Amino acid sequence: MKIRGSKAGSGSRWSLGWKLGLPALFLLCSFFFLAGFFASILLPQEEDVPIVRPAPRLLEKVDESMEFDPLPHGQTGESSITSTPFQILSWKPRALYFPHFATVEQCQSMIKMAKAQLAPSTLALREGETAENTKGIRTSSGMFISASEDKTGTLDLIEEKIARATMIPRSHGEAFNILRYEVGQRYNSHYDAFNPAEYGPQKSQRIASFLLYLSDVEEGGETMFPFENGLPSDLNYDYQKCVGLKIKPRRGDGLLFYSLFPNGSIDVTSLHGSCPVIAGQKWVATKWIRNQEQND
Ligand SMILES: *[C@@H]1O[C@H](CO)[C@@H](O)[C@H](O)[C@H]1NC(C)=O
Repeated sequence: MKIRGSKAGSGSRWSLGWKLGLPALFLLCSFFFLAGFFASILLPQEEDVPIVRPAPRLLEKVDESMEFDPLPHGQTGESSITSTPFQILSWKPRALYFPHFATVEQCQSMIKMAKAQLAPSTLALREGETAENTKGIRTSSGMFISASEDKTGTLDLIEEKIARATMIPRSHGEAFNILRYEVGQRYNSHYDAFNPAEYGPQKSQRIASFLLYLSDVEEGGETMFPFENGLPSDLNYDYQKCVGLKIKPRRGDGLLFYSLFPNGSIDVTSLHGSCPVIAGQKWVATKWIRNQEQND
């Protein structure tokens, strides 16, 4: 009886388990799954086991519409926050790249105003140098024009934007030098700052240069920094070749670099030049920025 009963009992239990087992099993599994899940989050982990959790999706997106709250501003300040994108190209020399600094129309307008007055570019001559014996160092054509001379107002806008990007007042800038390089034309490596050892004592010194590329160049015409990241150890290194950090001109983009360290001495890595244009034309507007106000 007992054996039969247990047999019968086990049989009925089995059929009972079959009837209730699936939902119960499911609940049980769910319970252990959740318990395990929370335990893995809540219980202290071994120090050397990294906790890897998926990043929340929202953080992956850049919120374009993000607005900053402007602070109360001073009388000479501005009421809104603006952003001017830039890329640091180098710390030695300090060189920044500003994509889309000027519009296509502004570039075209600047080329147009320069075309009428182009003349062969000249050099600041050192002792013993003449126009004749320095021929070939700088072969571009160019002209100088100040913002006040430009009735279209383009140079005014560009100058203002350069001053805001550098936080060096407009009064410290020389007039724009607009240059055209044709095929084969170049500018040998040089410093924009005037070394007192070569040029004598300087009342006013160039701190920084802002180059605005007014055209694309099909091939060549890069701005180059042959000493980027320090003087080369190789004595045969030819800094007059198109070497070092090279920046391909792109219409509307700006390049800013500093010729002086914050302490006022000349940064040797600010040596730069223009590689020869191989195909096409290169148009560039340069603004040299000084440590003294300019009175022109
Ligand atoms: C000026 O600063 C540069 C870079 O920090 C440094 O190498 C140089 O020795 C400094 N010159 C003087 C005269 O202090």
